[in-house]
Amino acid sequence: ITVHVPQDSAAVSVGANEVAAAIQRAADEPIRLVRNGSRGMLWLEPLVEVDTERGRVGYGPVTPGRVPELIDAGMLRGAEHELRQGVVDELPWMRDQQRLCFARVGITDPLSTSDYEAHGGMRGLRAALAKKPSEVVEEVTASGLRGRGGAGFPAGIKWNTVLQADGPDKFICCNADEGDSGTFADRMLMEGDPFCLIEGMTIAAHAVGATEGYVYVRSEYPDAVRALRRAIDAAYAAGWLGEAILGSDLRFDLFVRVGAGAYICGEETSMLESLEGKRGMVRAKPPIPAVTGLFGKPTVVNNVLTLASVPAILADGGQAYAELGVERSRGTQVFQLAGNVARGGVFETAFGITIDELVNGYGGGTPSGRPVRAVQIGGPLGSYVPPERFGLPMDYEALGEAQAMLGHGGITVFDDTTDMAAMARFAFEFCAEESCGKCTPCRVGAVRGVETVDRIVGGQDRDGNLAVLNDLCELMTDGSLCAMGGLTPNPVRSALEHFPEDFLKEAK
Ligand code: NAI
Ligand code: SF4
Repeated sequence: ITVHVPQDSAAVSVGANEVAAAIQRAADEPIRLVRNGSRGMLWLEPLVEVDTERGRVGYGPVTPGRVPELIDAGMLRGAEHELRQGVVDELPWMRDQQRLCFARVGITDPLSTSDYEAHGGMRGLRAALAKKPSEVVEEVTASGLRGRGGAGFPAGIKWNTVLQADGPDKFICCNADEGDSGTFADRMLMEGDPFCLIEGMTIAAHAVGATEGYVYVRSEYPDAVRALRRAIDAAYAAGWLGEAILGSDLRFDLFVRVGAGAYICGEETSMLESLEGKRGMVRAKPPIPAVTGLFGKPTVVNNVLTLASVPAILADGGQAYAELGVERSRGTQVFQLAGNVARGGVFETAFGITIDELVNGYGGGTPSGRPVRAVQIGGPLGSYVPPERFGLPMDYEALGEAQAMLGHGGITVFDDTTDMAAMARFAFEFCAEESCGKCTPCRVGAVRGVETVDRIVGGQDRDGNLAVLNDLCELMTDGSLCAMGGLTPNPVRSALEHFPEDFLKEAK
């Protein structure tokens, strides 16, 4: 009997380790306990799954105290119980997804190379190694894959720039600094299917001619760091990293580096500075990292999800990937539902699904049943979107036209008790806290922003201060060196536009 208990840190944070121990203690017959990643239905964690003839049957959320009762009720055979959720793959949340990047997350043992291969792993790298580097780049270009970190720059064009760059030393750097609030897909992928990222980076290395790669992981993700390091060791042992990868002449070495808790180190040039052992300060662009990157060498910098989307693209062809999605947003996006939402987690599907389908449909609205007042899409620097606009499709252009942004695909839900003026103030506060300090609009503007919001809310020369706030937002948007200062006005402006009443405290 095979029993799966996730080792994902979200599941562990609600007691998955204790549940796993309780199952081993209480099992009345021999079991094989697999610590898988999370399926992404976080409201059901710890979600215990048992192999049955009908498929994997899930029970959740399981507490250690209920394990003996579940075992007595026949959980190990998939029997009925009030916590039984049914065959996991048939649950609407799972059934309705198109999982390419997350195809194996929650299914395989994250550290088993044989499990990885048995579930389609390494097909992409094998296909890539049979192609010339330029053909691999063409395949990625044909897929329409765009940077999943947030900016959405076409991955194939970036790779081509690095391929064309001169010099024997090139690097592949994976940005796993996932600093956006309400996002956790990078972490879940690294904990739940680290080989997928390793495979994607190795394909990138072949495509551009790099021999060394770094994964820059935020320090807040110790479990992901551990999983990646163990997976890298296993990949070396399997001949998937190092010399003569899969018997080819490709050599690629991969290292993990851990950040030190600065949001700005998720900005690619800051991340490179940090990787070089310096303080995380933003570099002016150009030159872009694709030309002058790590240690001044041509460097691919991609987000975890971008690189982890590549194995499927090479395995099944760029065309198949490009058939999914809408307009210029091709393929799938791993959406993350968080905040005040009844059913939070990851939902990977083709671009084009609406905000309403995700938030009120799959997410089930708020846990208390109070109305949703707004969602913030794309992290703390994303715009607030009111329910009137929930018909918008989730794609780069449609959101951009609506003065919002997709970012890293995170959606944070707020109910009607939220004070949107306080949220606007928080955007400035956050920027003041996390600014690298290199340029004035951001370093000084964020501090002045907090003060100005306070004056407006306090009823002090409201019109004058609103004009100052508008000027400040314009200056930060146009004059900041990087997206940190440049995007901070997004939450502020959208809160002002859609919820002006919250800025009129006296009238309330
Ligand atoms: P950007 O638009 O400056 O650059 C996008 C990427 O394209 C960069 O890697 C850049 O080097 C590359 N690029 C541009 N022109 C190129 C060319 N001709 N050839 C090759 N490569 C080229 O945007 P940036 O500043 O890198 O990212 C901003 C985004 O980051 C925001 O939109 C936000 O959504 C997102 N973000 C994500 C966070 C997360 O935790 N994932 C945190 C904060 C922001
Ligand atoms: Fe640094 Fe802010 Fe300027 Fe970016 S915008 S370079 S974070 S001071």
